[in-house]
Amino acid sequence: MSDAENLVEVGPASEFEDGDAEIVQVGRAEVGVIRAEGEFYAIRNQCPHDGGPVCKGNVQKELVGEFKGTGKRVDQQYSDTDIISCPWHGWSFELDTGIHIGDDRIRVPTYDVVVDDGIVYVDKGD
Ligand code: FES
Repeated sequence: MSDAENLVEVGPASEFEDGDAEIVQVGRAEVGVIRAEGEFYAIRNQCPHDGGPVCKGNVQKELVGEFKGTGKRVDQQYSDTDIISCPWHGWSFELDTGIHIGDDRIRVPTYDVVVDDGIVYVDKGD
């Protein structure tokens, strides 16, 4: 369990619909708390590409495909992974890890989210 002094209050969980994002200040960072499919995620609202407000982007399932070779059909389907796409140029990141979907060397910092007694908090970490 997190220490109370490490928690930043976001608001009542009941006020979040899927796809909603609430921006809060966590230390010197702007952090977006996002609900997707009933789960809460928190990622820094600063895109590693050019500083865009990544948390204002669309949340969706990741589309994955398997390339079958030149001239062959590419099989595509949606995975179970929720991603968010930066509204400036479309870079997309996994919500739970912050990792860029096309290059795992690129990552947006993520934070733990705690829901206690119906209230959503971001854990500032150590
Ligand atoms: S600033 Fe986010 S994709 Fe360019």
